[in-house]
Amino acid sequence: MNENSKYDVEAIRREFPILEREVNGFPLVYLDSAASAQKPVAVIESQREYLSHFHSNIHRGVHTLATQATEAFEGARETIRSHFNATYTAEIIFTSGTTDGINLVAGTWGRANLKPDSIVVLTRMEHHSNIVPWQILSYEIGFKIEVVELLTDGSLNMKEFMEKMELSPDLVCFTHVSNTLGTINDVKKLTSLAQNAGAIVLIDGAQAAPHIKVDLLDIGCDFYVASAHKMYGPTGIGFLYGRLELLEAMPPWRGGGEMIASVSFEDRTTFNVPPYKFEAGTPNISAVIAFGAAIDWMNKVGIESISMHEQALTRYAHNELLKIPGLKIYGTAKEKAGVVSFLVKGTHPSDLGTLLDQLGIAVRTGHHCTEPLMTKLEIPGTVRASFAAYTTFAEIDALTAGINRAVKMLN
Ligand SMILES: Cc1ncc(COP(=O)(O)O)c(C=O)c1O
Repeated sequence: MNENSKYDVEAIRREFPILEREVNGFPLVYLDSAASAQKPVAVIESQREYLSHFHSNIHRGVHTLATQATEAFEGARETIRSHFNATYTAEIIFTSGTTDGINLVAGTWGRANLKPDSIVVLTRMEHHSNIVPWQILSYEIGFKIEVVELLTDGSLNMKEFMEKMELSPDLVCFTHVSNTLGTINDVKKLTSLAQNAGAIVLIDGAQAAPHIKVDLLDIGCDFYVASAHKMYGPTGIGFLYGRLELLEAMPPWRGGGEMIASVSFEDRTTFNVPPYKFEAGTPNISAVIAFGAAIDWMNKVGIESISMHEQALTRYAHNELLKIPGLKIYGTAKEKAGVVSFLVKGTHPSDLGTLLDQLGIAVRTGHHCTEPLMTKLEIPGTVRASFAAYTTFAEIDALTAGINRAVKMLN
């Protein structure tokens, strides 16, 4: 079943305390990792250790705790730089998550560079986080948003993508992995096509960073964003990668402490260099440190091993789910991550999700913050099962058995 024979999923599960719990009298089957992944002891402990032993505000402190906290905080930035293969640590800006990172780019680079006659290209598979910030800005500035549609398997329509590039867009934004369909986009190719057309490229990496090796230098994009909580880290923290020369040219975003070089009532206030220019106020220090611990944990297991495990789970889930009469899977692209969206004829996704919860099985139902995609598919939403490093084949069996049971109850 699992070609990844050295992968010890049971040992991994023992590192996740939450997986021991029961829900509604059944062992928890957590199939909602695309919404947020569970946390290993190493991540939980890193926060406890920091809060118990060396909490202090960071930067500029002369005392020992401030120095230790600063070293741990900046050490996490370097861990992230190295893991994603960015050139400079200054290119890694801490944000509160993917949504925050996209809003930062819209509010700074976007506001400074997009004009009424600009064109921004998005795709039909974007999460609302990579649609709405651009819409809000377009309502203000008046630029046009062009949308690349999908093929029936949920992959990007490349012919249409090429046609949009002929419009010479100023900005092209796309997700690395679709949170609803699981499609993995060929981001290196898309980036080069968009940059050759003269565009700046922003990639939403929220669903890629937990599952596949992301090499920013190789991809060559201008901006890349992700969230720690989907990568086994805490909520409320994420990062924006930006090419240094772009970050240096961008105006600041939020004003406050840390982002300044010098503040004056008499002269013009001047701003700090990246990344601090974009990090106003006291950051989420414990979460940043735990984000670093989460990346260390992923590297201990091995991102390639996690990917292989999840690929095997996805193939198995497709096979098993398709045996259920009336079940249709949305998203069957060849390159696909561990996300399986489906509907069963005659059942509403939220009824199915509620009955699965009665059996201890956590799935997500609804539009998954991809309403434009649902509109195009002409469906109200889907049931989505999503996998992580700790997901087992037995849990997929539990899901299929649970669906069969629920469908009988609903018909
Ligand atoms: C593809 C994608 N983009 C963006 C987001 C938003 O992430 P966050 O809520 O952590 O900002 C998500 C979250 O589900 C996502 O799946």
